[in-house]
Amino acid sequence: METLDIKYFADLITSGQVVAFPTETVYGLGASAFNEAAVKKIFALKQRPADNPLIVHVASLEEVTIVAEKPSPIEEKLFSVFSPGPLTVLLKKKKNIPDIVTAGSPLVGVRIPSHPIALQLLSEARVPIAAPSANISGKPSATHHEHVIAVFGDTVPVIRAGATTYGMESTVVIVKNEQQIVILRQGVITKEDIQRVFPDVNVSIAGEDDSDLQASPGTRYKHYAPQGQVTLLPLGNAMETAVLVKDFISKSRAEKIVVLCSAEVVRLLPESISAIALGSENDLSLVAHNLYDALLQCDKLGATEILIQTFPETGIGRTVMERLRRAAES
Ligand code: TXA
Ligand code: MG
Repeated sequence: METLDIKYFADLITSGQVVAFPTETVYGLGASAFNEAAVKKIFALKQRPADNPLIVHVASLEEVTIVAEKPSPIEEKLFSVFSPGPLTVLLKKKKNIPDIVTAGSPLVGVRIPSHPIALQLLSEARVPIAAPSANISGKPSATHHEHVIAVFGDTVPVIRAGATTYGMESTVVIVKNEQQIVILRQGVITKEDIQRVFPDVNVSIAGEDDSDLQASPGTRYKHYAPQGQVTLLPLGNAMETAVLVKDFISKSRAEKIVVLCSAEVVRLLPESISAIALGSENDLSLVAHNLYDALLQCDKLGATEILIQTFPETGIGRTVMERLRRAAES
């Protein structure tokens, strides 16, 4: 990779501009979290509803208290185990964070990314960076700088750092009390990962395990949707899925069908079927990593109908399925 002048981009952030930058999850559209006018630009660029708050990124655990009140012991342990990394914890916000960032909420989502460029950008800019995923609201998140450039062109300076590590967003959690951690948005870190660290704490997923709890505002909106109509196939082994795909296609009148499925299924399909392999059934992290890129490829291919297989709902598979169901909502 060419050397990147991160200081240049950090100066843009400090001077109130929006910069697209890589994180280990997805690309972010970042601005100084202290600068209300700059944050406003993010909402406009993304066409983001004003009631959907932004995550604030900081460079280290010590810096969390720049933007939020001191974390409780459980919150602190969450950070020390999973950060830097794909975890966002909701904490009481400090007054220096303008209301626009949190959409008026007294809580701010704080995340310490692990991507070296994100960390360098944060330390050179010397301000916390508010950043949502770098996509138009409702569309799949950008997992490569080319995805960002395809959407925002020359309107946003982009740090070109290639593909991100996970290709899937951070997990957003709130610690309700010493007995309860709630996942408000599923992500790279799974319920099982958190439960393993806190065997005696109840870990639940808002809206799924716990219908009383409201998931993050962002999870209410249409999301991750490609242009084509998405149909999810029922769960089955590779043979069964391949049969379902062939059957569906033989009956469909769609102009252009693209199939997203495991490598095992692709191997069982005739060449005449346009199929994208997301990864092996035995490696759902790879499936998660490739998902948004595959959805964006469907748009490029002009797919009017997208047929996607169902994956087992354990670990990261649950996050993948949540995204697929949302993509299928029309
Ligand atoms: O991996 C990620 O989290 C990426 C990278 C760039 O850090 N960011 C990201 O941001 O995915 P965004 O804005 O696309 O999604 C943030 C999610 C939304 O569902 C939002 O509603 C929720 O987090 N969220 C953020 N702040 C919140 C708050 N104060 N209260 C409740 N939910 C919050
Ligand atoms: Mg997003």
